[in-house]
Amino acid sequence: MNAASHVASEAPGRVPLIGHAVPLLKDRLAFLQSLRAHGPVVRITIGPKTLTVINSPDLLQEMLTIKSKHFSKGLLFEKLKLFGKNALPVAEGDRHLARRRLMQPAFHHQQIDQYIQTMHATVDPMIAAWRDTEPLDLKKEMQLMTQNVVMAALFSTTPDRDTGHAILKGVDTLFAAALRRALLPLPWLERLPTPGNRKADRASRVMRTAVGAVIADHLANPNAYDDIVSLLLRTREQSGAPLADDDILSEVTGLLAAGSETTAVTLAWLFHELGRSPNLEQQLHNEVDTTLTDTPLTTKSLSQLAFTRRLVNESLRLYSPAWLVTRRTTEPVRLGDIDLPAGQDIIWSPYTLHRDPTLYSDPLQFDPDRWLPQRPQPPKGAFIPFGTGKRQCMGNEFALAEATLITALIASRWRLRPTPGPAVQPVGAITLHPSKLRMTAEARTPASHHQKTA
Ligand code: HEM
Repeated sequence: MNAASHVASEAPGRVPLIGHAVPLLKDRLAFLQSLRAHGPVVRITIGPKTLTVINSPDLLQEMLTIKSKHFSKGLLFEKLKLFGKNALPVAEGDRHLARRRLMQPAFHHQQIDQYIQTMHATVDPMIAAWRDTEPLDLKKEMQLMTQNVVMAALFSTTPDRDTGHAILKGVDTLFAAALRRALLPLPWLERLPTPGNRKADRASRVMRTAVGAVIADHLANPNAYDDIVSLLLRTREQSGAPLADDDILSEVTGLLAAGSETTAVTLAWLFHELGRSPNLEQQLHNEVDTTLTDTPLTTKSLSQLAFTRRLVNESLRLYSPAWLVTRRTTEPVRLGDIDLPAGQDIIWSPYTLHRDPTLYSDPLQFDPDRWLPQRPQPPKGAFIPFGTGKRQCMGNEFALAEATLITALIASRWRLRPTPGPAVQPVGAITLHPSKLRMTAEARTPASHHQKTA
């Protein structure tokens, strides 16, 4: 490695005053991908702000693991504080460590086995209630399903459909506001009573009311539940005082936001790809029909769904939900042979990394079998849909079990067929979601194939 000090190369096309704002606003996914051609570390500017984009798996590993203490979570996560100031995904330093230690046991794989039964009981009736008469808005269906799963497994509650819709709308509005504020970082604009800001305030109140009701129910029935909400309510600070009400509210809201839409879009993309590939769909049906038996699903039975799991992996690769992740240097730091000053904003994109032709053969092809163990696997650090290091997604096992289970349960009952209309395009909002995805459910198997709920 070169010991000399280097700065990152600058992306071409910078316009005075606005920098690279135009290509970024026009097609942010294409713009980010185009930067790969200009080196592993590239500088872009938006107005007065300089951002460093990292596209190399080695440098990302360095940043996210051994040098992680020199970085805070950065611009996007600061704006995501809209969901709650100190929630785990946005907390920093000792507070982050303490909260992660506190909540991590709820995500250990022994726990996942229990969640699988709850997941099954939650989604099976929702899938059974689909009808073949009206096309489904697939992203919304998946969002309702994954939101209910998080609420049932972690908060022991299942909202009715109207409350579910209201929470979903709240999450979407706050996500949109956070992204807008991260891409156009003008703090004074955030304090003005603009229609967008007022909408975000209303959404925040809806979320706080819904989550507040869950907490109130736990407080009223102190011995009824053994879940993450009761864990937070039982926790004492070092001083012996309980956690502040606002802290508990933030943590619960943070989990809801982190855990629902990410898994939902993974599933929406997966079924979009299956709708275009009868061959893959047939393989899924074969696996589900021969592997699912009439007993409750467990971690073990899910592990037998090897093809289904490869489909999930491939959806996470090609359509990485968290397509944009940020960091900020807290002090001067060298990454590889590049010197970064303190306060430097960093962007990295699992979506861009996972589509890099130097890391994946035929990267734009949806090919679940690239994950077969006998096929050459991508280099270390080249597949990081959940991030890596101390800020790695805490719900990764939860999400993988959930996505595998929902895919298999849907496939045991329905074929999802594409509807005519404009081509489905990836949209880079907070998560990478399909532009508009309507699919028709066609019943496929007799009722005897259905799983019994646990
Ligand atoms: C396919 C689904 C999911 C994807 C792709 C995903 C991805 C991510 C990513 C990229 C991060 C940030 C990593 C970083 O900044 O370096 C993250 C953090 C986090 N995720 Fe997930 N996630 C998913 C599902 C879930 C679920 C289901 C839950 C919980 C129910 C969850 C809880 C969290 C939490 C608590 C954090 C913050 C961890 C920390 O900062 O220590 N995620 N996730």
